[in-house]
Amino acid sequence: MKSAGKQQVKNKFGQYFTPKIVADFMIGLADILPNSKILEPSCGEGVFLDLLQKKGYSDITAYEIDDDLAKDFSNVHYESFVNANIKEAYDLIIGNPPYIRWKNLEDNLKQELSTNPLWNKYCNSLCDYLYIFILKSIELLNENGQLIFICPEYWMNTTHSVSLRNYMVEHGYFEEIYHFNETPIFEKVTVSSNYFNAA
Ligand SMILES: C[S@@+](CC[C@H](N)C(=O)[O-])C[C@H]1O[C@@H](n2cnc3c(N)ncnc32)[C@H](O)[C@@H]1O
Repeated sequence: MKSAGKQQVKNKFGQYFTPKIVADFMIGLADILPNSKILEPSCGEGVFLDLLQKKGYSDITAYEIDDDLAKDFSNVHYESFVNANIKEAYDLIIGNPPYIRWKNLEDNLKQELSTNPLWNKYCNSLCDYLYIFILKSIELLNENGQLIFICPEYWMNTTHSVSLRNYMVEHGYFEEIYHFNETPIFEKVTVSSNYFNAA
């Protein structure tokens, strides 16, 4: 990835990193024990990993597609989370997944999605890359596991997201949803976002 410009990589992979204060708030929503198994599926620079480690959690696994990021952490798999062969289940999956409209996705990421059974079953070309992160994360939760993501809110109200919403309520329940409307959480981005905490 070294040859591509920084901005190009940022757009290609949806690299908008979570401010520490927001990540800290989200971790505070988790109901976990020191030995809980935790997954960050798209860790970016590692803000969640850093905070979780400082709070004493040690069983943390992460994925990140850009191998220039999160170099200071030892538990990062540099491969796409989408088709990664993950055998474990987790008590907490937390993070800020990439949001990229299907039409803006790179060909190789579209190609990967086209072979993903969850994507093929629940999504179409109006859906966002974010959706596969929600679906696959729910599949990877332990019984009583928690999923806490910050993301744009269009999954809640668009017609093409109905299969995703049905999947979510059939496989768990929402504990809390926080709306941030247009509060500028990410640098240089205006997006209406929400966190959700589902179990
Ligand atoms: C919105 S950023 C958030 C990063 C980090 N979770 C945070 O909260 O700061 C999304 C991250 O997902 C990574 N990413 C994009 N596609 C991915 C994939 N298929 N598998 C794993 N990581 C991916 C991007 O490189 C980027 O670092």
